[in-house]
Amino acid sequence: MALVELLLLSFLASGVDAVPPRRGVSWPAPVPASSVPPIEWSAIGSLIYKPSESFSHQNTADKKVATANINSVSAPLPPVVDWRNRSGINFITTPQDQGACQSCWAFAVTALIESQVRIEHSVWSKRSEADVHDGIGAICETTGSAEETLQYVAGNTNSSAHGVSEKPGIADWSCDPYEAVTTPHAHCSDRSGRTTHIGNFQAIGEVEDQKKWLYEYGPIVATFILYDNFGEWKPDPTNPHHVYAWDGTSGNTGNHIALIVGYDDERGAWIMKNSWGKGWGDDGFVYFAYDNANIDMWVKYGLRNVNPDPWTRRRHQSGNMMQSGNGETHRNFELLLSDPAKGIRHISRDGDTSQWGVVSQLTSGDALVIRGQPSIIGTSMNRDFHAVAVTEGNNIQQWAYSQSSKTWSQLSSFGQSKVDGFPGIVQSDDSSLIVVVKHTDGTLNEYRQEANSVAWTLIQPPIAGNITQSGASLVQSNIGFDMYDRSGISQGRLYTVATRGDGKMQTFWREGSSKAWQEGDGFGEGIPDDAVPVMIQDNFDTIDETSACGFQLAVAVNGSVEHWRWRPQMGEKWEMVQKVASDKEGGIKQVWSLVQGSFAGKMHMITESVDGVIEYWEWDGKWALVEKITGLR
Ligand SMILES: *[C@@H]1O[C@H](CO)[C@@H](O)[C@H](O)[C@H]1NC(C)=O
Ligand SMILES: *[C@@H]1O[C@H](CO)[C@@H](O)[C@H](O)[C@H]1NC(C)=O
Ligand SMILES: *[C@@H]1O[C@H](CO)[C@@H](O)[C@H](O)[C@H]1NC(C)=O
Ligand SMILES: *[C@@H]1O[C@H](CO)[C@@H](O)[C@H](O)[C@H]1NC(C)=O
Repeated sequence: MALVELLLLSFLASGVDAVPPRRGVSWPAPVPASSVPPIEWSAIGSLIYKPSESFSHQNTADKKVATANINSVSAPLPPVVDWRNRSGINFITTPQDQGACQSCWAFAVTALIESQVRIEHSVWSKRSEADVHDGIGAICETTGSAEETLQYVAGNTNSSAHGVSEKPGIADWSCDPYEAVTTPHAHCSDRSGRTTHIGNFQAIGEVEDQKKWLYEYGPIVATFILYDNFGEWKPDPTNPHHVYAWDGTSGNTGNHIALIVGYDDERGAWIMKNSWGKGWGDDGFVYFAYDNANIDMWVKYGLRNVNPDPWTRRRHQSGNMMQSGNGETHRNFELLLSDPAKGIRHISRDGDTSQWGVVSQLTSGDALVIRGQPSIIGTSMNRDFHAVAVTEGNNIQQWAYSQSSKTWSQLSSFGQSKVDGFPGIVQSDDSSLIVVVKHTDGTLNEYRQEANSVAWTLIQPPIAGNITQSGASLVQSNIGFDMYDRSGISQGRLYTVATRGDGKMQTFWREGSSKAWQEGDGFGEGIPDDAVPVMIQDNFDTIDETSACGFQLAVAVNGSVEHWRWRPQMGEKWEMVQKVASDKEGGIKQVWSLVQGSFAGKMHMITESVDGVIEYWEWDGKWALVEKITGLR
C-alpha cells in the first residue's frame, strides 16, 4: 500500500473531524500552582451585580426569576457552574479558531476578557486575538504564556518596546481581524478608543479557590499538557459522564492554554472553551477531567474590573447622559445639564457610591444659549467625549472633552441656521460622527463629520419631509453588522425615530454602507407634534456576540413617559412596555436620556418635569423615580 493511502487511512480512522494538533507550547514554563498562596477572599470585593441578577428582567411580560443563589463567599459551592448558561443566560463568546498558528495563549486571554466584560458590564464585546498576538510582537511559531500576556494587556510590561505608548489593552475584532499568519501589528487608526483595558488579574493556585472564583466572578485561564488524543475528543451522547482524559499512551506535543468557563463535579471535569473552532469537540467546548494532563498542577488566572471602551458601549446610550469607563469599577455616568443662568455643566455619578458631583463646565452664564439639554457620546478618538446642542441661533454647537487635559473645548458650529429640532448623535461604524436633526422646513437631515475632520457636511437629499420633531434617537445598531468580516469594513444599520405630526412616531433606517434612508414602521397614538423620542439598542435577549439587539424608546406624552420596545430580530412590531405617570402637577415635560449600562440589565432615564426639575429614573422591570438632581444644576 502506498504511503499516501496509509496516511489517508490513519487520518480517516482518527475521525473525519480530527484536527491537526495546534499547540501553544507555553513559555516561559507555567507557574506551579503550589507557588501561589491561597486567595484571601475577605480582601477581594464582591461583584456589584451577581450573575443571578443579570438580565432577570429581559422579558417584562414573563419576568425571569433568578435561580442561582449567589450571595456570600462562605456559601457552599454548587456541584455545577457553567457560564454558558447561568440562570438561562450565556456569558461566553463563540469559540474561535486559532488556525495553524501557535497562538492559543492569545485566544485564551482574549476569551477571558470578553466574558468578563459581558459578566461585569452586560454588553457583548468581541476582542481581537491578533491585537494581542501581534501587539506583543509574536510570530506564528512563537509560543506565549497566560501570565506574560495578561501582564502585557494590563500594561505592566514595557509596552513602548511593542510600539504602544499607553497601556495596551485589547482592541475590538474589526480593528484588527485575526489571521493565522505572522503579520506586523496593524490596527485601525482609532485603536486607542476601541480598546478594553484590564486591571489586575488574579493568579489562583488552589482548586477550591479556582472553583470559587468561577462561581463568584467568572472564567479562568488554564495551561495543560497537550496530548495527541485531545484533538480527537468528541462528546458521547450515550454517556453523560464522558470527559476528556489522557489515554496514558499518546505522546505530547507541548502545552496548550484555554479558558475554563465552569466546572461539573458530577462529571469530575472542568468545562473548557477551546480555540480550535466550533467544529471541534462539543461545539468548541470540552469537559476536561480534573487533575489530568497537569491542568491542576499549574496556576490558573482570573480577572476583575475590566474597563470596556466607548466603542463597545455606544449603541446603548443616547441623550444627555452616558456611561463611561471612569471610576473604580468603570461604571460612572456622565451627565450634561444646561441652565440659563449657569451655562452647561458636566456632572458625574460615581458608579460605586451613586453620588453625583460636578466635574467641569462647558459654558458659563448666558455666553451661549441652547435649547433644552445637550447630547453626549463617548468616542473612539482618545476616548474623548463629544457633545452637541441646538442653539437659539438655529445651529448645532459641538464640544469635545479631552480625557488627557480633563477640559471641554468648543468645536464646530453647523446647521445653516435652519435647525430647530433636537439632535441625535452617534459615532458610526466607520468612525465618523453623524447627527440627525429636524430643520425649520420640516425636513429631517443627516450631517456627517469624518474622523479627524472639523467640518460637518449636510447629506442630500433629506431623510424625510413633514417631520415635526426629532430627538436623541439616532442609533448605530448592530443589525446588518457582520462581526467577523475580515475586511473590517462591515457596518451596521443606522436607525432613528422622529415625530410626524399625525399623532404618530416614524422609524427611519439606512444600511451602514448606503446613504439612502428608508421609511420603517409608524407607531404610537396621540403623540403631540413636539414630542421628543429618545432611543437606544438594548442588551436583552441575545444568544451570543453576533445577535442583533432590540430597541428601547422613551418619549414624554401629555405629562407621562411612554416606554416602547421593538425587537425586529424576533419579528415583532413596536409595542408599548409601560406608561409612566409623574406624581407632579403637570407631569413630565421631556425625556432627555436613556442608558443601558453595567447594572445587570437595568435601564436609566433622565427626565425634566413641567416645572423644570431634572429627575433620574431606573428601570428594573418597571420604572421608578430614584432622585431629583437639584443643587448641581
Ligand atoms: C439553562 O439553565 C436553566 C436553569 O437556570 C435551565 O432551565 C435550562 O434548561 C438550561 N438550558 C440549557 C440549554 O441547558
Ligand atoms: C522600554 O523599551 C524601550 C524600547 O525598546 C526602551 O528604549 C526602554 O529603555 C525600555 N524601558 C524600560 C524601563 O525597560
Ligand atoms: C407632506 O404632507 C403633505 C400632506 O400629507 C403632502 O401633500 C406632502 O407631499 C408631504 N411633503 C413631503 C415632503 O413629504
Ligand atoms: C395628548 O393630548 C392631546 C391634546 O389633548 C390629545 O389629542 C392626545 O390624544 C393625547 N395623547 C395621548 C396619548 O393621550
